[in-house]
Amino acid sequence: MLCKTYAALAALIGVTVLSACDQPALNADQTDDGAVPPAERGVLLDLPPEARANPDVWPRSATPAAITDEASEARIDEILAQMTLEEKVGQTIQADISAITPADMAAYPLGSILAGGNSAPGGRNWAGAEDWVQLARDFRAAVEAREGARIPLIFGIDAVHGHNNVIGATIFPHNIGLGAARNPDLVGRIAEVTALEVAATGADWTFGPTVAVPRDLRWGRTYEGYGEDPEIVASYAGPVTLGLQGELRAGEVLGVGRIAGSAKHFLADGGTVDGVDQGDAPISEEELIRVHNAGYPPTIDAGVLTVMASFSSWNGVKITGNQTLLDDVLRGPLGFEGFLVSDWNAHGQIPGCTNESCPEAFNAGIDMFMAPDSWRPLYYNTLEQVRSGAITMERLDEAVRRILRVKIRAGLFETERPLEGRYDLIGAPEHRAVARDAVRQSLVLLKNDGVLPVRPDARVLVAGSAADNIGQQSGGWTLSWQGTGTTNADFPGATSIWGGIEEAVTSAGGTAVLSADGSYDEAPDVAIVVFGETPYAEFQGDLDHLAFADPEPLRVLRNLQEAGIPTVSVFISGRPMWTNPEINASNAFVAAWLPGSEGGGVADVLIADEAGQARYDFTGTLSFSWPRHALQTPLNRDMDDYDPLFAYGFGLTYDDDGALDALSEESGVSGDAANPDRYFVEGRFVAPWSLLLRDEGGDSRPGLAPSGESPRGNVAMRTVDGSAQESARALTFTGPARALAWGTAVDLTRQANGEMALLLRYRADSAPEGQVWLGVGEAEIDLTPFMAETGSWQEIKVRLSCFRDLGTNIAAVEEPFSLRADGPAMISFETARLASNEGDAICPAE
Ligand code: BGC
Ligand code: BGC
Repeated sequence: MLCKTYAALAALIGVTVLSACDQPALNADQTDDGAVPPAERGVLLDLPPEARANPDVWPRSATPAAITDEASEARIDEILAQMTLEEKVGQTIQADISAITPADMAAYPLGSILAGGNSAPGGRNWAGAEDWVQLARDFRAAVEAREGARIPLIFGIDAVHGHNNVIGATIFPHNIGLGAARNPDLVGRIAEVTALEVAATGADWTFGPTVAVPRDLRWGRTYEGYGEDPEIVASYAGPVTLGLQGELRAGEVLGVGRIAGSAKHFLADGGTVDGVDQGDAPISEEELIRVHNAGYPPTIDAGVLTVMASFSSWNGVKITGNQTLLDDVLRGPLGFEGFLVSDWNAHGQIPGCTNESCPEAFNAGIDMFMAPDSWRPLYYNTLEQVRSGAITMERLDEAVRRILRVKIRAGLFETERPLEGRYDLIGAPEHRAVARDAVRQSLVLLKNDGVLPVRPDARVLVAGSAADNIGQQSGGWTLSWQGTGTTNADFPGATSIWGGIEEAVTSAGGTAVLSADGSYDEAPDVAIVVFGETPYAEFQGDLDHLAFADPEPLRVLRNLQEAGIPTVSVFISGRPMWTNPEINASNAFVAAWLPGSEGGGVADVLIADEAGQARYDFTGTLSFSWPRHALQTPLNRDMDDYDPLFAYGFGLTYDDDGALDALSEESGVSGDAANPDRYFVEGRFVAPWSLLLRDEGGDSRPGLAPSGESPRGNVAMRTVDGSAQESARALTFTGPARALAWGTAVDLTRQANGEMALLLRYRADSAPEGQVWLGVGEAEIDLTPFMAETGSWQEIKVRLSCFRDLGTNIAAVEEPFSLRADGPAMISFETARLASNEGDAICPAE
């Protein structure tokens, strides 16, 4: 009661409610539908003129009339009439499976669950298909156990390149590779296969297609988009939607093996300044329509049942609160009649809102809140807001009607689920064949002086840390959110790029040898070096510039070329990157993007048949422009001063002369952009820095990989959670060893004179048995006294002058941060960067 009064009061005076309102379930007599004060939409954000869309200038599209029919609408009327207020509000809230149990689901009338990128049955990302089915059944059974309306749940998941959260599923190339294939039929077929695998595990809905048009390659989600130009997304959005859902038919539910789609993220997620994730797109309405809206009319015309609103802003206003876009445009000229879901707690980013309370987003047009962990207080607050009139009953009914419409059409009221539990569909051979074909079509050949195709009777050395790494070739959104922390054993039935090459070469009588560091006993005829970006998702993939950071592959390529061995680079990445030194050191260079589980598709194109003829030619062409230098962003083919290294649409075939003159090796990144002051922040090494692990056996260079070990195993590194998911690294020392950031030599004289300090955020995970040292360059300080408190995060700031005075060559620091132990120790670090001395920096040596 107190909660109720407080919330109502707070809503009146425009204060948001952080809920202490956790109460057990409610009963029907609490409903007071009649008492809603008349208002059109209730509270709304105030929009400045530049963030107000004008519906008159937008193109027209329309959800097919078959999304509903008289009988369905009559059924909805009937259900609505029986629903309590609580049940209605519950329909508009979606919880994440990591933060809700079936028991909660029986007690609260929520309408939806999702499995976020790091959410899985039992909290195990490595759960199998059976566990997913069981989870879906447990939640459905909970709904059955409810009193009252018992409206079926809709269960959503990010099946964004195949059913990528499930062990053993077919993992397709990420969208960037599919864009390079320029093949709408192919993406339609992939969507069909994805839907089948999702249906087999009991989920109903995928958060795709992503119809973003990424305009700046620094954006960490570039690879989720098909291309920089609206033409590709416009041609793909319809086929993908039809592949997932099939055609909508009046009076019928989606066909067997079809699932609901969600076009995302509406709108201009790919248009933010500097490619900053969840940032602002300060662009004209004309550009908003011409570039970023391109995918929406075709996906709506094809009947997409849901749309997801973007985290990002347009002209300074969060889209999730912009009623002119979410309502006036989307429901006006765009004619969308499904329901609109918000993104992961995105409503909490609206001024005046929190994750637990946001009538503004709902009134702006969000029909369902994605409220992963905030669902309970959000439910109570939304309930109060309807009671107080901050949200009108009309608006609530409208949202619930749309949700019910989708649930009916998606067949969720049917009890039969013919494909659920059909585990033979997960990673089925015919599905993998589609994926392998997609890999072949996605490869883009950028350089070839004649070394490709590789003769299969050759002696082939396969090098590079990505050669036999299915997790790395699959990228983010693979088993875990960031796609990190996997080994090949987590991909039963999949093939690494090495695996495909080995098969192709040995079956034709040649010899293939795998050697990650490029060393060999017998000189090979040719070396294929597979390297590139390590997995990331969302903001963790945002970059300052496009210079490829890991120095190790270049070292390998140059060593091979110096020994007279022709080299082929296979570059794994979520975007074009400045790789001129690597291209120069390669006789052929292939952009392979993030091919997924069917690495055999790479060998299909690279390795010739027994007669020396290519088995498949290259057909892929760039769907994003390739930069001439590392700061050439944004770079889009419709720009006036467009001057890429390889233009949008470029891609060689075996008929072309693909030789290339030496390219400039000036990245354009100046001293400052070399990040002299940031080494490890927000879960990543910052370019040009990467990790090196050293013990008496020598060096190993995990580079940007999420885990690794020194040659003798004296120190092992893995990704762990810090203040955010996967934002820290844990070092386990079992003997004398050192972990260090390396990359380039930077001059820190100025910083040392200015009394800046190395800031380390760390946690002693156990008391060290020997001593632990913290270093900058050559000098170290004894960190052991600061390791006494175990299990909690701490910060230490050590003055640079301290290291300088102890002997660091401060004008050329090659190892700006290192941790060393001389015996068993466990230490995690979350941040290593320079910071100003606010009187809190120390010099323990003094
Ligand atoms: C992402 C969405 C995704 C959702 C659910 C968000 O962080 O932006 O693309 O569908 O999480 O995992
Ligand atoms: C992301 C979601 C992701 C989740 C993983 C969130 O921060 O936005 O997309 O699924 O973390 O737990």
